[in-house]
Amino acid sequence: MNLGIPKESHPGERRVAASPAAASRFVKLGFDVTVEAGAGVGASYPDSAYEAIGAKVGSKEDSFSADVILKVRAPRDEDDARELDLIREGATLISYVFPAQQEDLVASLKTRKITALAMDCVPRITRAQKVDSLSSMANIAGYRAVIEAANEFGSFFTGQFTAAGKVPPAKVLVIGAGVAGLSAIGAARGLGAIVRAFDTRESVRDQIKSLGGEFLTVEIEESGEGGGGYAKTMSKEFIDAEMALFREQAKEVDIVITTALIPGKPAPKLWLKDMVEAMKPGSVVVDMAAEQGGNCDLTEPGARAVHNGVIILGYTDMPSRMATVASDLYGTNLAHLLDELGGAGSFSVDLKNDIIRGAIVTHDGEVLWPPPPAPEPSPQAKPAPKPAPKPTPKPGPKPAPVVTPKTPEPAAAASEGGGFSGKALVGVALTALWLWLRFGSSASDTVGETESELLQHLTVFVLACFVGWQVVWSVSAALHTPLMSVTNAISGIIVVGGLVLAKNEVPTAAAVIGAIAILFATINIVGGFMVTRRMLRMFNK
Ligand code: NAI
Repeated sequence: MNLGIPKESHPGERRVAASPAAASRFVKLGFDVTVEAGAGVGASYPDSAYEAIGAKVGSKEDSFSADVILKVRAPRDEDDARELDLIREGATLISYVFPAQQEDLVASLKTRKITALAMDCVPRITRAQKVDSLSSMANIAGYRAVIEAANEFGSFFTGQFTAAGKVPPAKVLVIGAGVAGLSAIGAARGLGAIVRAFDTRESVRDQIKSLGGEFLTVEIEESGEGGGGYAKTMSKEFIDAEMALFREQAKEVDIVITTALIPGKPAPKLWLKDMVEAMKPGSVVVDMAAEQGGNCDLTEPGARAVHNGVIILGYTDMPSRMATVASDLYGTNLAHLLDELGGAGSFSVDLKNDIIRGAIVTHDGEVLWPPPPAPEPSPQAKPAPKPAPKPTPKPGPKPAPVVTPKTPEPAAAASEGGGFSGKALVGVALTALWLWLRFGSSASDTVGETESELLQHLTVFVLACFVGWQVVWSVSAALHTPLMSVTNAISGIIVVGGLVLAKNEVPTAAAVIGAIAILFATINIVGGFMVTRRMLRMFNK
């Protein structure tokens, strides 16, 4: 099966659909790869690098006449590039398509019976992460946004004490903590800036904190969670509170990076003219949502603007500005998608595959986009059920925006959950303590030394269960890996204790319990090592 990688013809586009390393994955999947001559030059990949991995270098026509065509941007149908005409009927095209905005293109793909898979329509589900090129590109774009800001900013990001004087650290505000925003937070922190971030989705709080950023909040509680990990449009009250927060921040921050986006909608206007005017001259605004209209009032998409000494960058080609890594990651995403399609050996468009169903736009002369609605978000992300509304005889005033309580802290969640609740544990622990005080302390007179010892052990066991339960549920998910190391260490002590008890030849109750303890502690230790190894393997890839 032939696979073609044409040169991108979109003005200014430096990426190519795959680096040589990514193209070697296509070869491994059984494809005969043809790369258009010079396709990788903009990304610093010479033709010879593709030849070295077993690909052919050919003409534009060669690359477009393949069975599967891989591109970054959708094929152009303009006077200077009639790319669609070069694709044959029944071929498969994989590229960005943006079907909602490209009705003419979708109609042409349908008429030409081209099977088109849109990389921008890959569903945001866990299984599809390896195919999710919007995330891999947004990650690059967030980093690049910080680099562009640093390039314009006239001072250090990190604070400095020098013989010549003190330089305060730069203050960076990131609006929207999706993939691009989180990447920007990480990059700005890495350069030493003080980073603050705001998002309507409470669920990103821990991620912001784990990157060293400060999560800003407003007084109004309203969930920003839409379906499938995306945001929803917020109420006017919330946006007003957000604007008030930003007006305060505008006086303090040096750099603002805006990434706020609600899928399928124009970018919300969040950094208004008066906020730009409140910023110090020399400050920088990077509006990453420029292509969707911009989050800042004064953004000029694709350009650099200056207002009152504040620089506003509306670049829409951040990943292309880092074409080498962008082409490599995009190509790897494509390799995973080709794998989902069965590789060259058993290539087929399986509409039961949720990744393929989400990404497919046209197939067999039919338009299959949009896909059926995505399943409900996971129960964790679901807002808490609202109490049943009280019957009202007359129609009342307009209802307030849907307000959901904050996500309960894990400890609280655990104690509220059914079954083995925290309150029950406290009860058991107190009962055990009482039993020990009642019988354990005067055991030699009443129930004998052995029973007294057993009661003491039982008390320690129950208290350990209680303390352990509370500790595990109070530790945030981000810290579960170090917690695992601690539990492994504790398990080691349990094994030693168990060995001491189980050494008796006559099997007493204590020896049996000791043996059981050894078994469970060993499972915990071995499991811990297996999980750690798996995680390390993920980093080695
Ligand atoms: P995303 O959907 O993962 O993140 C958007 C974030 O904005 C979400 O976390 C959402 O909760 C938040 N948000 C929505 N409304 C908000 C509000 N009113 N206030 C605060 N936060 C709000 O999107 P992703 O992938 O991180 O991309 C971010 C932006 O960057 C998009 O506009 C995308 O098109 C753009 N982008 C730009 C590139 C460039 O070259 N300039 C390259 C790649 C992405």
